[in-house]
Amino acid sequence: SGKPTSATIHADKPGAVYDKRVFTQFAEHLGNGIYGGLYVGNDKSIPNTNGFRNDVIAALKNLSVPVIRWPGGCFADEYHWREGIGPQKNRPVKVNTHWGGVTEPNSVGTHEFFELLRQVGAEAYIAGNVGNGTPQEMAEWVEYMTAPAGSLAELRAKNGHKEPWAVPYFGIGNELWGCGGNMRPEFAADETRRYATFVKAPRGTKIMKVAAGANVDDYNWTETMMRVAGPQLDGVSLHYYTLLNSQFPPIGDPSNFDESGWANILSGAVHMDELITKHSAIMDKYDPAKRVFLAVDEWGTWYAQDPGTHPGFLRQQNTLRDALVASIHLDIFAKHADRVRMTAIAQMVNVLQAMILTDGKKMVLTPTYHVFEMYKPWQDATVLPIDIQSPWYAKDQFTMPAVSGSAVKGKDGKVHVGLSNLDPNQSNTVTVKLDGLNAATVSGRILTAPAINSLNSFDAPETVKPVAFTGAQVSGGTLTVTLPAKSVVVLELQ
Ligand code: AHR
Repeated sequence: SGKPTSATIHADKPGAVYDKRVFTQFAEHLGNGIYGGLYVGNDKSIPNTNGFRNDVIAALKNLSVPVIRWPGGCFADEYHWREGIGPQKNRPVKVNTHWGGVTEPNSVGTHEFFELLRQVGAEAYIAGNVGNGTPQEMAEWVEYMTAPAGSLAELRAKNGHKEPWAVPYFGIGNELWGCGGNMRPEFAADETRRYATFVKAPRGTKIMKVAAGANVDDYNWTETMMRVAGPQLDGVSLHYYTLLNSQFPPIGDPSNFDESGWANILSGAVHMDELITKHSAIMDKYDPAKRVFLAVDEWGTWYAQDPGTHPGFLRQQNTLRDALVASIHLDIFAKHADRVRMTAIAQMVNVLQAMILTDGKKMVLTPTYHVFEMYKPWQDATVLPIDIQSPWYAKDQFTMPAVSGSAVKGKDGKVHVGLSNLDPNQSNTVTVKLDGLNAATVSGRILTAPAINSLNSFDAPETVKPVAFTGAQVSGGTLTVTLPAKSVVVLELQ
């Protein structure tokens, strides 16, 4: 029933590894992203371990979050690390000038961040301060975190951590074209060379350096950064948010929208494919061996804030529409796995397209969380190229292929297939030819909901959650899947 789609999975032509760092999460000092959402200090009314909420940490562990990017965002380019070490009561209370003008107690600093990483089981991606910090301050932060000996290592030990920490990823500032200093690309590329020079890893360790990359389709930025600073870099970032009408500052209620708002946003998510294709083509010119990775380290939906919430806190509800935005992105990243080896959805908790929302003691998992959970087998799996001949879905001026998908051979040896039906009105029957794969059984789960704007509230936290899926059959090298309207399906073939 429904529209027909045909597809081929080329299991006989495996592609690149789908790097687990594509599932990196971004946690900024912004609204309740850190304070309240992750960290409650010594608030005894919310169960916590060394200040971090047990409920939120358990949920994050269940996602196998590989890396956390911190402390910003825009916050990073005015963050001074020395203000966040030592006894918490002695730390200066600052003003968070970017995000709401509220006070920043500096209670979560370097030591607390590494405690968060320890509890989640994730690695560090630190964003350094290029905007209003010096190369010396940046170099000393790296030394404080990583040096085995010396007076900064002694200071670290005095503050409670004798062993050096690993800092595998370090961002040379953030959005240097904007909040990171309003630099022109030539100047930013020169500054990146200069600052990166002083980010030095102790002997026997490696720090991968990621340049602050382009905004959306600023291809000249990528071109200039690669030409001028490429040889010194391990990664270049790209930031692209899914916005209603591609409009910034963002508009639109996060959960109160019609079908036009659904199609508007989903077509914006599909646009990521074109952006990566074009930025990658530029990188190919300077780095045909694909040594430098493209780190899409900020992506996701950005709407007007939830009614009644602080405009500087970027708090937004998360619906089935956001779940589809997530699956579309994760599929696109599979297609570009050879170059896109890290991405970070913005952001982890309570900010923009969050995994988790909290309010005081309460916590809820968003539809986006469930997509990340369903796609866990993609972490470090091998991409199996998929061709999809999909009919179009259109509403108003927004048109897009109705079906998005990706396939991988997991580290568990099984083949995993993700298929999303973007059409909110019609089911779609996908017939998939399996080249080089003889599967006998298929099982899976589906994420859908009664309405395009269904969401999980604190009172009804399980409105949008994955359940067993029985709409797929496999036989004779053909997989047939009937995707209900507005759904994300993840299958496992054996
Ligand atoms: O994620 C919110 C903000 O968006 C980040 O701080 C900044 O890098 C981007 O503009």
